[in-house]
Formats: sequence, C-alpha cells, structure tokens
Amino acid sequence: MRIDIFTLFPEWFDWLRRPRHLANAAVSADLELRCFNYRDTSSLPAGQVDDAPYGGGPGMVLRVDVVAAALEAVYDGPAERAREGRRVVVLTPRGRPFSDAVATELAALPELVLLSGRYEGFDERVHAHLASDAVSLGPFVLAGGEVAAMAIVDSVCRRLPGALGNAASLDRESFSPGLDGGTEHPHYTRPPDFRGWRVPEVLTSGDHGAIEAWRAAHTGPAPVT
Ligand SMILES: C[S@@+](CC[C@H](N)C(=O)[O-])C[C@H]1O[C@@H](n2cnc3c(N)ncnc32)[C@H](O)[C@@H]1O
Repeated sequence: MRIDIFTLFPEWFDWLRRPRHLANAAVSADLELRCFNYRDTSSLPAGQVDDAPYGGGPGMVLRVDVVAAALEAVYDGPAERAREGRRVVVLTPRGRPFSDAVATELAALPELVLLSGRYEGFDERVHAHLASDAVSLGPFVLAGGEVAAMAIVDSVCRRLPGALGNAASLDRESFSPGLDGGTEHPHYTRPPDFRGWRVPEVLTSGDHGAIEAWRAAHTGPAPVT
C-alpha cells in the first residue's frame, strides 16, 4: 500500500514512521509513506499557498491551483485525473465521519492520498474537482489536517497484513464485527492485588467458560452513529 500525505508540515510526520506497527507494515505489506509540501511546488512568489476568500471574511483559503500543482508534481497527467487511479481524500470537518469501518475500507486500497488543510480550509474546487472522498476525524475543528491524517494512517496501517505482532488482536477489538461493533471488555494483569484494588476473581479462576461469560457481560454497546 502507498499512502501520500500533502501538507504544509511534512516534517511533523517523521515520528509516524517509528511505531512498531508502521515499521512492520513497511516490510510485510510493502507500505510506503510519502509526504509532500504544497509550498515546494507552488508557482506563486515565496511559495504562497493561500489567498483571501472571495466575498470577504476572516482567514485565508488554500488555493486550488496550488493543490493541483502539488498533485501534478507527484502523479502523471492533469491533477483532476489523479483521483482516477487512487483514492484522494480531503480532510475536512464536513467530511464523512471517520470510523473503524472507514479505516477498514481505506486499508483495502492500494493507494491512498490525504490532503491536509490549514487556515479556513480548501477552495471548494479542490473538493469538487481534485478529491474523490472527504473524511472528518470528528465533530470538532482542528487547526489543521495533520493530526487527522496521522490518526487515519495509524488506524489504517494496523490493519495491514503483518502490522501487528498478533493479527488476532484485530478480530475482537472495539468496534470490530467480532464484537458486533461494541467496545472490548476491560483488561487486567499482574499484580492481582494492588493497594486493595483486586482483579475480578473470575479472571484468575482458570474457568474459561466463566471468563468468556464475564467478558461478554462487560463488552460495551456499539456507539450510536
Ligand atoms: C481550521 S480548519 C478549517 C475549518 C473550517 N473553516 C470550518 O469551519 O469547517 C483547517 C483544516 O484543518 C483540517 N481539519 C480541521 N478539523 C478537522 C476534522 N474534524 N477532521 C478532519 N480535518 C479537519 C482540515 O484539513 C481543514 O482544512
């Protein structure tokens, strides 16, 4: 899988290559993570990328010609055709909500492009003519799309073959079909008694049927969407 991130802050993504599951995926799933700076390919003076909104109002808007130039520098042909061979996702608070199901969907793609915005966001023509999808991390406004992109990359990559030490971890974790979309039961480990805070006795009983029943009883409901 190849993931390309377009951003004004590519260096912020350096740490994203370090977590074990991403390093594993780079080897086992041939994951390639690339970052591109809109400024590097802007034809405007001093790497300008934004401009004042038509109609007035506060803030600046990321220009469509700047985003198009960035896509054309990386992919063959006109920018509007980049989305033909790959999923081009614009990150925006008004996109479809990111979820476990969306992560699974994106993880199945051979190529994923994340367009990270800043300021007031993108000129609407980026959404209409250059992107093929729009995703929101949640109903809140971030200063930029970088944290959203990192969350998406993290979540997508742990689904790639070989990313996790034990792939079975994915089968029955929170929001998975294995738990009917619900949240996973609580976990405990040693010591069995810490300051009088005792581990539920059933978990140390060795009775696997009782343990399964306890876990099922402590699985949370699926979130209302
Ligand atoms: C300050 S925000 C723009 C907010 C926009 N003016 C609005 O009111 O909806 C700048 C950039 O951060 C990113 N961003 C902010 N909140 C986000 C969210 N909930 N999900 C995904 N991206 C987000 C987007 O890329 C956006 O272009």
